[in-house]
Amino acid sequence: RHFVRAASSDAATAAAKKLLIKHVTIIGGGLMGAGIAQVAAASGHTVVLVDRSDEILKKSAKGIEESLKRVTKKKFADKPEAGAEFIEKTLKNLTTSTDAASVVHSTDLVIEAIVENLEVKNELFKTLDKFAPEHTVFASNTSSLQITKMANATTRQDRFGGLHFFNPVPVMKLVEVIKTPMTSQKTFESLVDFSKAVGKSPVSCKDTPGFIVNRLLVPYMMEAVRLFERGDASKEDIDVAMKLGAGYPMGPFELLDYVGLDTSKYIIDGWHSLEPNNPLFAPSPLLNKLVEEKKLGKKTGEGFYKYK
Ligand code: NAI
Repeated sequence: RHFVRAASSDAATAAAKKLLIKHVTIIGGGLMGAGIAQVAAASGHTVVLVDRSDEILKKSAKGIEESLKRVTKKKFADKPEAGAEFIEKTLKNLTTSTDAASVVHSTDLVIEAIVENLEVKNELFKTLDKFAPEHTVFASNTSSLQITKMANATTRQDRFGGLHFFNPVPVMKLVEVIKTPMTSQKTFESLVDFSKAVGKSPVSCKDTPGFIVNRLLVPYMMEAVRLFERGDASKEDIDVAMKLGAGYPMGPFELLDYVGLDTSKYIIDGWHSLEPNNPLFAPSPLLNKLVEEKKLGKKTGEGFYKYK
């Protein structure tokens, strides 16, 4: 009995030490930020979504509502009333703002999902560091930049980590939780708990280029481009081969067009400048040429394939 009481009081102390994330501020209402706001609000968190203009935020809110309708149709197929209630509750949890500094005063977690540019991100974090309470954890959704560099722009290096969601956020189950050498265990656990609370499966990785998924995926796609560039196989055959031979849902060229060739080039160029001798990070003349010609993939109607 004594043991049971001691164990449960230990658990209570551990729980008290943990930061329970209830209120979340998401900066950037684009593709990723809107998705993160949606899953956080749908799981009962109060969410403020921030972007640069009301016009952008209106578009984000409309996108979230449409996405919620799609989710609800599946989730509450036989209970339309419960579905309508779910949408209403979720939207009630969500507000928007164009002034990040004025809304972070009572937030537990700030998730940044703005443009992939280190200077812009650092500037934002530096400002928010002055306005957010002591306990607030900061996280970046960056795909390719170093979390440590952003943490160093603030005075809360121990309360800073990475939360890397995948596109489309409401569908993809994975979150990579990134720990820098300065991230405290308490912060890390809070980020893991938050990821689970929004219905995702977290994995953890150190602050290294591409974390787990992109560190494997980007060099694989670049290797496919090199295979094609050498004339060893056609892009169509490479795509068929990886779908039928490896069971991948998309071939590497289809995936490159889906992700955007500019985004892929940006990532590989960034890593190449960090590790110029790493052959996995070598740039590709063909990829560079397509980007120069503004053939960026599906979004521009042409990349490796034509979509018109
Ligand atoms: P996006 O371009 O769709 O959205 C970015 C949003 O941030 C825009 O609405 C823009 O107006 C806003 N913004 C830019 N600067 C701002 C500032 N200073 N303050 C407030 N809002 C600002 O970009 P996306 O695709 O959502 O990417 C955002 C972040 O997520 C990037 O760091 C990217 O690397 C990362 N990411 C992207 C994935 C993807 O598949 N697109 C996957 C995982 C991570």
